[in-house]
Amino acid sequence: MTQFSVREKNRRAFLKYLAASVVLTPGVRSALAASAAELPANPEDPFMWWPHDPNFAVERPEDAIDVFELEATAYKKVPIAHFAYMETGADGGGTVRANRQDIGKFAIRSRRLRDVRKVDASVNMYGSKYNWPFFFCPVGGPSAQHTDGVLGAARAAGRHNVAQMVGSGPTVATLNKARNGTPIFQQLYISSNWEMTKARVQNAERDGARVVAITVDLPSTFKRNQYERAKRRDSRICGTCHEIADPKFPKGSVARRVGSTGTSEVSAEAMTEAVKNYKGPPLTLTWESMKRIRDITKMDVMLKGIMHPEDAEMCVKLGYGIMVSNHGGRNEDTSASTISALPDIVSVAKGRVPVFIDGGFRRGMDIVKALAMGADMVGFGRPWLWGLGAFGEAGVDRVIEIMQAEITAAMQQVGAASVKDLTRDLVYKSL
Ligand SMILES: Cc1cc2nc3c(=O)[nH]c(=O)nc-3n(C[C@H](O)[C@H](O)[C@H](O)COP(=O)(O)O)c2cc1C
Repeated sequence: MTQFSVREKNRRAFLKYLAASVVLTPGVRSALAASAAELPANPEDPFMWWPHDPNFAVERPEDAIDVFELEATAYKKVPIAHFAYMETGADGGGTVRANRQDIGKFAIRSRRLRDVRKVDASVNMYGSKYNWPFFFCPVGGPSAQHTDGVLGAARAAGRHNVAQMVGSGPTVATLNKARNGTPIFQQLYISSNWEMTKARVQNAERDGARVVAITVDLPSTFKRNQYERAKRRDSRICGTCHEIADPKFPKGSVARRVGSTGTSEVSAEAMTEAVKNYKGPPLTLTWESMKRIRDITKMDVMLKGIMHPEDAEMCVKLGYGIMVSNHGGRNEDTSASTISALPDIVSVAKGRVPVFIDGGFRRGMDIVKALAMGADMVGFGRPWLWGLGAFGEAGVDRVIEIMQAEITAAMQQVGAASVKDLTRDLVYKSL
């Protein structure tokens, strides 16, 4: 930030403070507020003329122009601790920022004069044809954003034949029924306990999964500071709904547990017990355990959380699909962005195994760029939760509609009538 903009910012903050001050008359207060609003936020931003409104929300799903308007709306509707759980990054949130900002550092170099009146953005993946090259990432606790939960998202995604990767919660069979069409991709956390691992993988296969993505980027615990801070601002008693040991929750009482399959009542003691028994995600998982998985399943296997080309090499050797992911910046701070890790990984994979990517993808053009750079499918987590938080299932529908329109326009703009026309030469790293 330049010295000038720091000064401007301070002055604006001071005027706002004065405007809110109780000792001033209402007339003087509103004059000062107007003056503060007129100050340019960042004089170098070509869009500085458009004021930022922290109270913005859309009233109906169809009013949302882009997914960020659904984010703003979800912020108004979802309890702050739940919203922050979704948005948080690890530590200072540097990886969350990098994922988003680095996508902008890769620039489009469009081809002209191609016939793009008809665009086909479909992809064939793991034995099914999906109408769009994006998928919903697996996220814990979607019901915390809206009680329509993951089943509401499955119904919306199924209606548009959009792919979905889903972790714990309803079974694969239940989700596929809600989708009423192409199958989900199953995501699993597995443990270093071999019997437990075997059971998880085999249960997924038994339930009808065709591919299983094993998340491998959680070898430690993490600090999610934004979430922890937001919890301080949330005065509700968590134990009223959660299976957690909440000291504020009175012994002997009954709690409401809200989930995607409905609402049930549980005793405070049962919830405390459930927390004590929860072992959390795996801490030790090695390539040795990964090698053994090949022998116990006929499903295709993908590893979610690959960032280093040598790990990508191992995936190719084992025949595992690669998901370039840093968990949306939730596990480690100042990680490389996924888009910047993608080129090296694509060069290693050489088309021998599928390469998926996620992390910061918010617009159709972001997705088109990653496909041109060699990704086979592009996932996003938070945006579908924004739609869900804002309007439930109807909001998820709106996220899909926005993405469909943006991807179609972006493909036409770069001169691609199909996903295979999205070639590497269309993107380069800008200065
Ligand atoms: C609220 C939330 C919960 C998540 N839970 C899981 C999870 O249980 N398993 C997993 O593999 N990834 C999980 N992720 C990571 C996502 O699958 C995905 O990698 C990430 O959200 C992509 O980044 P984006 O949110 O910027 O699109 C979660 C992400 C969010 C936002």
